Amino acid sequence: MDSLRIEGGRRLEGVIPVSGSKNAALPILCTSLLADGNHRFRNVPALRDVNTLGALLRELGLDVTIDGSTVEMVGRPVISPEAPYEHVKKMRASVLVLGPLVARYGRATISLPGGCAIGARPVDQHLMGLEAMGAEVELTHGNVHVKVPRGRLQGAEVIFDMTTVTGTENLMAAATLAEGTTTLVNAAREPEVEELALVLNKMGASIQGAGTSVITIDGRESLNAVDHAIAADRIEAGTFMVAAAATGGDVLVDGVSFDTLHSVVDAMRAAGVNIEREGTGIRVSGTPPFEPVSLATAPYPRFPTDMQAQFMMLMCLARGTSRITETIFENRFMHVGELNRMGADIQINGNTASVRGPTTFEGAPVMATDLRASASLVVAGLVAGGVTEIRRVYHLDRGYEKIEEKLARVGAKVERIRGDA
Ligand code: EPZ
Repeated sequence: MDSLRIEGGRRLEGVIPVSGSKNAALPILCTSLLADGNHRFRNVPALRDVNTLGALLRELGLDVTIDGSTVEMVGRPVISPEAPYEHVKKMRASVLVLGPLVARYGRATISLPGGCAIGARPVDQHLMGLEAMGAEVELTHGNVHVKVPRGRLQGAEVIFDMTTVTGTENLMAAATLAEGTTTLVNAAREPEVEELALVLNKMGASIQGAGTSVITIDGRESLNAVDHAIAADRIEAGTFMVAAAATGGDVLVDGVSFDTLHSVVDAMRAAGVNIEREGTGIRVSGTPPFEPVSLATAPYPRFPTDMQAQFMMLMCLARGTSRITETIFENRFMHVGELNRMGADIQINGNTASVRGPTTFEGAPVMATDLRASASLVVAGLVAGGVTEIRRVYHLDRGYEKIEEKLARVGAKVERIRGDA
C-alpha cells in the first residue's frame, strides 16, 4: 500500500487546478443505465471510486471507456440487473445503480453496502422511497432484492425521514421513468443533486425544484443519451483552501466558484483567512495563528460534513478553543487521534470535538482511515516541522486526483512511496 512522505513547513504559493466533482460524477455516470446510446462525460476526475463504478457498470453490461478525464459509455440493456458484493463492498455509492435499474427493468438485486469507517450508513430511505413507488423489497443473505409487480414504478410522494444525498439522487433518477409524478419532500439540496437533475433533464426527463427541499419529477417513457462536463469538486477546492491558509501561503484555487462554498468561505473568513474571487477561481491567503471558530456540520447549504476534518485541522492553528460538532455521521472523528499524535490538543465529547490551539505540529508516521480524515492529515503534514509519512493513502486516492502532484506544483515537498500491492 502506498504512502505519502511530506516534509512540512513550506508555504504553498501558486495555482492549484480543481478537478471534476467525485460526488457529482458518481450519480451522473449511473444515468447511462437509464438510456441506450452513446453517453459522453467530460471533466470526470481520475479516482479510485470512478474506476470502481466503471467496473460495476461494465459488469452490468455497459461499454465503458475511460480516457483521461473523458468517460464514454454505450448504454444498452443490461445482462442482469444485479450488483454483486465484490463491487458494492468497495464503495457505498454503488447503491446509486439501484434506482436506475429498478426504473428501467422493474427489478434489481444489490448487495447491501456494508457500513464504512464513518458510520453504519444504511439505505433504508432509498428502499422506503422505492416501496412508495410500487416496488417490493426483500432482504436475504445480505442482498437487497427489489421488484415491481406492476412492471413499472408509479409516481408517488416520498417524504424522507432525514436528508440523504444519494437517497435523493437514487429516487430522483428512478422517478424519471415512473408512470406519473413523483414528489421528493425533505430532499437533499446539495449542488451534486442539482447537477444530476440538470443531466437527467438534458436526457429528456422533467425535473423541477432540484436544489430545493421539494423536487418534482414527471415520469417519461424513455430517455436519451447525454454529453455532459462535470462541474468542479467543491470539497477538493475547500481542502486546498485550508491547505493554503494553514501553510501561511497564497494560492489561487482555480476552476471553482464561491457559489457552492459560501458556508466554507464564511467559516474561514471568520477565522481570519483572506478569501477573494479571482478570475476563474478563488484566491486564498492567510497567516496563522487564526481566530477560533465553532460550528456544526449540516446538510447543504450549511457547513459540509466532508469539510469537517479539514476545518478542524485549521482550527488547531487558532489561538483559543473551537468546538466542532458532527451531526451527519456517527463516527467521523477518526482523524482526531492521528492529529493529536502530531501535537494537536483535541478532546472529543460525544459528537463535539474541542480543539485547543495554537498547535505546533510535529511530523510523525500516521495512518489514513477514511477519505476526508486522510486529507486533514495531509494538511497537518504540510504544516508540521519534519517529516510526516501517511500510510494507506488509497483512502486519499478515492477522492483526490493526483494530490501530491498538485501540491508539489505549489511548493510542497511531498512524494508518493510505492508500497506492496
Ligand atoms: C453523500 O453520502 C456523499 N457521498 C458523502 O461524501 C457525504 O459525506 C454525504 O452525502 C453527506 O453529505 C456521495 O455523494 C457519493 P447521506 P451519502 O445518505 O449519500 C443516514 C465523501 O467524503 N442515512 O446523505 O451516503 C446516513 O447514515 C463522501 O465524499 C440513513 O440513515 O450520505 C448518514 O448518517 C463521504 N438512511 C446521513 O443519513 C439512508 O437510507 C446522511 O447520509 C440514507 C442515509
